[in-house]
Amino acid sequence: MRNHNDLLNMNERSLEQQAAVRRATFSPGEIKALRPFSIWEISQFMFDVPADTLRKKLADDPTLPQGITEEDGRQRWFSLEEINELRRRAKFRGRKLLPERPRGRAMRVAVSNFKGGVGKTVVAQHLAHAAALDGYRVLCVDFDPQATLTHSMGLTEVKESHTVWGIMCRDLCRESNRIMDSYDDPDDCPYPAADELPEDVQSIGAQRFQEFIQPTCWPTIDIIPSCANAAFVEFASAQYRALHKAWSFFGCVARYLDELPDDQYDIIIFDCPPAIGYQSLNAAFAADILYIPSGPGYWEYDSTTSYLGQLGDAMADISEGFASLAADAGITLPKQFSDIRLLMTRFESNNPLHSAMIDAFKNVFGADVCAHPIEMTRAVEQSGRFQMSVYEQDYRQMTRETWKRARQSFDRAYDEFLHTVLDAWKENGKRKEKAE
Ligand SMILES: Nc1ncnc2c1ncn2[C@@H]1O[C@H](COP(=O)(O)OP(=O)(O)OP(=O)(O)O)[C@@H](O)[C@H]1O
Ligand SMILES: [Mg+2]
Repeated sequence: MRNHNDLLNMNERSLEQQAAVRRATFSPGEIKALRPFSIWEISQFMFDVPADTLRKKLADDPTLPQGITEEDGRQRWFSLEEINELRRRAKFRGRKLLPERPRGRAMRVAVSNFKGGVGKTVVAQHLAHAAALDGYRVLCVDFDPQATLTHSMGLTEVKESHTVWGIMCRDLCRESNRIMDSYDDPDDCPYPAADELPEDVQSIGAQRFQEFIQPTCWPTIDIIPSCANAAFVEFASAQYRALHKAWSFFGCVARYLDELPDDQYDIIIFDCPPAIGYQSLNAAFAADILYIPSGPGYWEYDSTTSYLGQLGDAMADISEGFASLAADAGITLPKQFSDIRLLMTRFESNNPLHSAMIDAFKNVFGADVCAHPIEMTRAVEQSGRFQMSVYEQDYRQMTRETWKRARQSFDRAYDEFLHTVLDAWKENGKRKEKAE
């Protein structure tokens, strides 16, 4: 017979193995570090100028970052910080290299589907990396206690108080006080104030705003991380709802992100768990855009269909059941998304079943299906093992063609994603202007 001790024991052995993998992958120091990028990559994939033109620009102005030259003197490599400095300072034929950044707050995109293993984390990770390489400042929010995105960003030790769970506790405390203060006579308020909530909620909830945001191995990507213990947020949230019946539990993360200064980030990407619960509802309510990845198999289609129904139902229930409570908290229901997009992942263009499935998706969902699916690539399978995106992998470790194909597949998906984001961003700005 076996019990919970066996599970804990297996967990212990596995953690030791993980540490060994980390040592082997990220040595020295066991800390994940971002690699530098070559002139070939910068000229071809980032600046879209001939490599010789870039070299000449650097030679003409020695005050520009010059990168580090390989020992054999053939290739020069630049850090992302240096690339971003070049973006700020260099121009090619009058063309600036800075990415388009409409006014207003950062756009928030939730990568979500309750089907497991469809590529949500791979998509969130690659979109975040592609945006950072494009010059944007990115914040990721890991809503999934599996914490794959958190680990892939180089974080290993995360306290549960620093996850979305902590944000929900902080929100409950702040909302409790706001609601209490809205009564002329606090004795008339039937709900508790923050100092009447359980002590652990109060102490986690007392954290300062910036404590939830951690730097990653990418200089322009921060993350609100997750960890295994954050799985209890689902139980805890049900308990907190019982403690405070007027708490708009679905608006915690949206309220938190509203506190960010408009110009701290450009794009905020949520990686959601394969479930509909308190965390994924918070992600949906905080998102401007829903990005729904789905694999090319029939069961994934089936499951994506159920997800659309379940999420729609959950959001309809909230719109009906919590209307006055939400209005009191300043939340307009029903929740409006700027866009909802379906993205096929792990797509093989030479597989007739995959082609039939994407056609079926397009027949049913029309223009809501992204034109460029994410292709199934060996580079990503390998990157999964080493927790690295295609962008992080050094192309010299495989054939350049394999790497280039994988990168271009993600680049096409990113270009389409950015188009969606920029459209929503500009619309958002116009709406805000009108309202003012
Ligand atoms: N384009 C791709 N090419 C090859 N392998 C892929 C691709 N996308 C995802 N995978 C692999 O499929 C597996 C699941 O991907 P991922 O973890 O992104 O899914 P998920 O939807 O986030 O899963 P979960 O629901 O557990 O959070 C991983 O092993 C990943 O490396
Ligand atoms: Mg995932």
